[in-house]
Amino acid sequence: EQMRNILQQMPKAELHIHIEGSLEPELIFALAQRNGVSLAYPSVNQLRKAYAFTDLQSFLDIYYAGASVLLKEQDFYDMTAAYLARAQADNVRHAEIFFDPQTHTARGVPFETVINGIWRACQDSPVSAALIMCFLRHLPEDEALATLEEALPFRDKFIGVGLDSSERGHPPEKFCRVFERCRQLGLHLVAHAGEEGPPAYIETALDLLNVERIDHGVRCLEDAELTARLAREQVALTVCPLSNIKLRVFDKMDDHNLLRLLDAGLVVTINSDDPAYFGGYINQNFLSTFDALPLGVEHARTLARNSFSAAFLEGEAKRGYL
Ligand code: HPA
Ligand code: ZN
Repeated sequence: EQMRNILQQMPKAELHIHIEGSLEPELIFALAQRNGVSLAYPSVNQLRKAYAFTDLQSFLDIYYAGASVLLKEQDFYDMTAAYLARAQADNVRHAEIFFDPQTHTARGVPFETVINGIWRACQDSPVSAALIMCFLRHLPEDEALATLEEALPFRDKFIGVGLDSSERGHPPEKFCRVFERCRQLGLHLVAHAGEEGPPAYIETALDLLNVERIDHGVRCLEDAELTARLAREQVALTVCPLSNIKLRVFDKMDDHNLLRLLDAGLVVTINSDDPAYFGGYINQNFLSTFDALPLGVEHARTLARNSFSAAFLEGEAKRGYL
């Protein structure tokens, strides 16, 4: 129908995509074979069957296992090229892509192997793409600081930093020093907050880390004062509807609070998070959300416009999309 075509065809930006979460089971198996890595699952289908998550941690365990097949620069290139081709098919014009260097350096893969492979695929794509380096919040801040040191020779290859992995018990304030360092370096700052963690984590991400956008942030509605502040300051939320259902943040899409977030005046965007694990790329996230909730053409236009206004694009590039 009409709405479907509008959602698929409208130009959009994707602001919340973990590149390791775009690794499809087929590519996991192909890379395992190419690199002589043995997997705990005998087939693509058996692996897919393991994608039955109960919460964030149960997903992260499988997500880190899947990433273990990435060893060579070409592996990172192939993964990123596959995502960008898929994003282009969904009419994504600009993508700000998260990567998790610590997931790889901890296995002995050099930092430069990771960033060079991902970056080269971005250069080769017709989709505008930029990289955001994420720190794993379940690890100590000292390891984030060491990762930042390793990244400095590649400062021109990423535009910002983020914070991901296990949220509960790892509040933003654990990373004050490293985020302050990144701010001084002129990097853009974002953090996952209020996905599984409480609204207080959204507040401390803003006040103590000085982040410019909140990744997820859906739990903000539990705090009316915080919601009013996010609306007043027009802080963008990068919401990932299919992720929220798969990780049981909401029971079903009908229960998702995306429309309530929009009605509260928040700068909401729709994104895919980890599309290979959560059942769909960005357009499927739009379609599933619009199927379940009373959203119309005006909402679609607002969401697309928000994706560009919240992007870390500058000057002409930004005005061209708005
Ligand atoms: N939350 C936290 N960490 C993550 C996610 C997420 O949705 N995806 C990949 N790492
Ligand atoms: Zn995420």
